Amino acid sequence: MTHGRAERIEELQRRLAAAELGGGQERIDRQHAAGKLTARERVELFLDAGSFVEIDALVTHRCRDFGMDKVSIPGDGVVCGYGTVDGRLVYLFAQDFTVFGGSLSETNAAKICKVMDLAVENGAPVIGLNDSGGARIQEGVASLGGYADIFLRNTLASGVVPQISAILGPCAGGAVYSPAITDFIFMVEETSYMFVTGPEVIRTVTHEEVTKEELGGASTHAAKSGVCHFTVASDAACLAAIRELLSYLPSNNLDDPPPGASDDDPNRESEALNTLVPEDPNKPYDIKQLIAAVVDDGKFLEVHARYARNLVVGFARIGNRSVGIVANQPAWLAGVLDIDASLKGARFVRFCDAFNIPLITFEDVPGFLPGTNQEYGGIIKHGAKLLYAYAEATVPKITVITRKAYGGAYCVMSSKHLRTDANFAYPTAEIAVMGPEGAVNVLYRRELDEAGGGASRVRAEKVAEYRAKFSNPYIAAERGFVDAIIEPRRTRPEIVRALRQLGAKRASVPPKKHGNIPL
Ligand code: HXC
Repeated sequence: MTHGRAERIEELQRRLAAAELGGGQERIDRQHAAGKLTARERVELFLDAGSFVEIDALVTHRCRDFGMDKVSIPGDGVVCGYGTVDGRLVYLFAQDFTVFGGSLSETNAAKICKVMDLAVENGAPVIGLNDSGGARIQEGVASLGGYADIFLRNTLASGVVPQISAILGPCAGGAVYSPAITDFIFMVEETSYMFVTGPEVIRTVTHEEVTKEELGGASTHAAKSGVCHFTVASDAACLAAIRELLSYLPSNNLDDPPPGASDDDPNRESEALNTLVPEDPNKPYDIKQLIAAVVDDGKFLEVHARYARNLVVGFARIGNRSVGIVANQPAWLAGVLDIDASLKGARFVRFCDAFNIPLITFEDVPGFLPGTNQEYGGIIKHGAKLLYAYAEATVPKITVITRKAYGGAYCVMSSKHLRTDANFAYPTAEIAVMGPEGAVNVLYRRELDEAGGGASRVRAEKVAEYRAKFSNPYIAAERGFVDAIIEPRRTRPEIVRALRQLGAKRASVPPKKHGNIPL
């Protein structure tokens, strides 16, 4: 049978229309009723208008078992392709829950792998919009193989192009490990969840009762596990937030982040900073006020905002240059370093280093958190991760010590000794092995015991003496461990000058296959 040209074009249109419709109107309506957008609506909303170019719209599965030979939907449950965000190329895949529950078949996985390969070859970010029932049950090991093919590519692309995952529905079982390897995970509140084993399996094995939301909802992963970096209220908010994140990032590890377009004066001083750090060293203050006062237009994109709040990390621009900010938060657990904060900080520092984003560290840390929980949990190896990450980082590094820099935490938090380029301290800085009270207890134990009733007077004297001698930045400045003591109001102009100085910084690590970060 011969077809004319018109029929052939009609056939193409018919096939593309079928791909467009996915699992059909009824399932689309169900998706909407669940408060979710469809894969195609997400793609359209995410990319610059009209920029989407679809790849593999006509791919179908090959499975012939369980009646699958009778059902075949072009696209096979995932919408793949490329487009632009603020005019910059990105690749993406969007799992289509209306087609076999967005489950991953062999061919569906091959489509995802194709865009990942293109992203690496062409040096552009990959964005995964996840909404899937997991491995396509009818396909068995072919589907599992597809997952492993994706995991391999996630791993090889790590540190080459930014990889961002949005969880917009179910993401369970081994499927969680693709997002887990990517750089950032966004989760939508109420409609998304992630877990390795679900509530039913948990009930059977450990007899715990837990809902899907409690086990693996956005709040759980944002505040408890730290798996999720950003929580958002809706699909639309999620897609907008990913666009914002991308604005701070380069397209790949050989590029610089795009410059900002702010007219915030680089020399702007902030008088309020001169009085931000309280006179009383035990009084908290909010480090985010300092960050807001220093960065361009006060704009700060906080990462992991609800996890390990004693350490604040996130992106901003200073003098129109993207920076990664790491800051102890005196308003939360006195800004102490613990396991979660170390993990959070280390991962962020390594991301910034991989993608040429200078690191700005604001330091006010009383030390590592004491306790059996912390020691048994491995604060030794986890704290070492943060130290390792800072030491290894070759991007421009700038540190500002606002107040406490005690003990090991002084070394860890981007100290001069870890080849930080510009180290500043405020006149209120206290840089010493430990705080005055702890030091006096160790150094004058015998005198305190012998003083009996006069112990508190002796202690007060010794504390005052120690504070006068060590609780200042000048001993560190005399040794060159800090480059300059600056007036707080001048923080922004000093950072701008340092960043300009370091614009063409070259530093490296010795050639090696890879280091052995204490995992
Ligand atoms: C094939 C699937 C599917 C799957 C869902 N569907 N999951 N088809 N393989 N894994 C289909 C359903 O048959 C249904 O088809 C449609 O998708 C929508 O599913 P519903 O159950 O109606 O939707 P909902 O009530 O919202 O429930 C969603 C769900 C549930 C919670 C995800 O579908 C579910 O539990 N699915 C199975 C999850 C699972 O066990 N996956 C394997 C995990 S192991 P129709 O035609 O009716 O619309 C895994 C290993 C990965 O993924 C390993 C990597 C190493």
